[in-house]
Amino acid sequence: MAHDTSPATTNDAGAPVESDEHSLTVGAGGPILLQDSYLIEQMAQFNRERIPERQPHAKGSGAFGHFEVTADVSAYTKAAVFQPGTRTELVARFSTVAGERGSPDTWRDPRGFAVKFYTSEGNYDMVGNNTPVFFVKDPMKFQHFIRSQKRRADNNLRDHDMQWDFWTLSPESAHQVTWLMGDRGIPRTWRHMNGYTSHTYMWINAQGERFWVKYHFKTDQGIEFFTQDEGDQMCAADTDYHTRDLYEHIRDGDFPSWTLHVQVMPYEDAATYRFNPFDLTKVWPHADYPLIEVGRMTLDRNPTDNHADIEQAAFQPNNFVPGIGPSPDRMLLGRLFSYADAHRHRIGGNYQQLPVNAPVVPVHTYSKDGAMAYRRTTDPVYAPNSKGGPAADTERYGTPPSWYADGDITRAAYVDHAEDDDWGQAGTMVREVLDDAARDRLVDNVVGHLLNDVSEPVLVRAFAYWSNIDKSIGERIEQGVRAKADEKDPKAAQQSNPARGSMQDKA
Ligand code: NDP
Ligand code: HEM
Repeated sequence: MAHDTSPATTNDAGAPVESDEHSLTVGAGGPILLQDSYLIEQMAQFNRERIPERQPHAKGSGAFGHFEVTADVSAYTKAAVFQPGTRTELVARFSTVAGERGSPDTWRDPRGFAVKFYTSEGNYDMVGNNTPVFFVKDPMKFQHFIRSQKRRADNNLRDHDMQWDFWTLSPESAHQVTWLMGDRGIPRTWRHMNGYTSHTYMWINAQGERFWVKYHFKTDQGIEFFTQDEGDQMCAADTDYHTRDLYEHIRDGDFPSWTLHVQVMPYEDAATYRFNPFDLTKVWPHADYPLIEVGRMTLDRNPTDNHADIEQAAFQPNNFVPGIGPSPDRMLLGRLFSYADAHRHRIGGNYQQLPVNAPVVPVHTYSKDGAMAYRRTTDPVYAPNSKGGPAADTERYGTPPSWYADGDITRAAYVDHAEDDDWGQAGTMVREVLDDAARDRLVDNVVGHLLNDVSEPVLVRAFAYWSNIDKSIGERIEQGVRAKADEKDPKAAQQSNPARGSMQDKA
């Protein structure tokens, strides 16, 4: 029976239904009738409730908010969203990478940090992570990397041997793995982590001058993390801890915020900078390119329908607006294709028409029709036309973000810059950024990770990998693994094991 204030239930066509509880039967003990189309509608709709989860970044949560520009960066970009005083509505989603939709929030993993700005010039998406670097630098390796973090084919288990096998055969991963195994590998909450574009992007100002930029969203709540033990305990106590924390803080009016800064590199510096500025495994040291404040992102509104607001949110790094463009970073160029393709598969071809993905400005496009088309098409349906249809404003928008490129078509590594190597910046982090306590936790985290069924040949490579990052850390990790393995299996400690190499042997 309906409460006085509740509306009467209807079917999906809006007609009142006879019961929320009883199927249509021939007598109370008789068969269910095919003509109970409301029951059939309920079952059929239920069977279609789930859409495929995101391939990576399946577990996450998000909220709505706004971005306010607090400084003047108009010398570097003409993008309306970053002009002084501008306020822009947005949706943000945070996520883990490797786990499935029901996986624990506090597994050690990088975190996604995705923001869709509903700007006055169309949607602008910043799809970053809580780390300024990444594990690989060519999109050809991304799929392999993600598979190595997910599940084996045979037993459907995650597998540390597979992870270290990939990492140690991919030395470019060293900087990001050092980050991952450090304190920031398990943020305390989504609110207590930074976000970075990681990639370099291009900014263009009103005069047409070009700059290379990296974004840093610094948490105003301060960085906080869980130790491995705390993270493990939270996995058991509350699988959805980060999801709950974000929701409850916003519900209670404690709105989290992040201050956006950028590093800006003049266009011409790129060719001669000491690091390849487009290599996603490298940062630009702050001393070379200091942070410049842009504005503040605040999240102040929870989703009311998680499926419609967050699960169907479709972030895509190719959503640019005038004044912002890509860079020669190969990973970024690969991503410009991948996300829209994923959305067409995961959500459907017309995903951009859903409210969470639709821009706040009118869409004047020649795209039309398709399954679940919602936006209405009007004539003319072709361009060019003499019938008053949309026409590109090439005078205003006709110059694409661009850089000079030339050479034979090839499959080759990046050309190295003076100080490019796989180990240097990871070593700087270990030696100059971490303090003694953080270094101890790093060693413990790596030792604990390697003690999870990592095979001997991979272990030996892992010791060499860490000693390339920092000799002393490498030695401590090798000693830690050997000592703990021997504690577990004292018999093995007494026998000399010819299969067991060591980092020193390798060297
Ligand atoms: P700085 O001393 O200027 O910057 C070091 C930065 O390290 C800090 O600003 C902080 O970044 C970050 N940091 C602090 N503690 C940790 C931690 N436990 N785990 C991960 N990052 C931490 O030096 P440089 O700019 O010369 O960079 C030195 C090294 O610092 C780099 O090789 C890189 O590994 C790391 N780093 C550099 C960043 C950059 O963009 N230059 C950004 C982050 C790390 P934040 O302020 O963003 O929180
Ligand atoms: C999600 C591909 C690298 C951040 C995804 C998804 C795909 C993908 C297919 C799922 C999208 C969806 O179904 O909605 C790739 C490819 C990469 C790459 C091909 C490299 C070639 C990166 C990097 C970052 C990143 C370097 C961060 C700097 C994210 C985030 C999400 C995501 C945050 C989740 C977005 C959301 O919350 O919906 N990626 N990715 N990815 N990726 Fe990547």
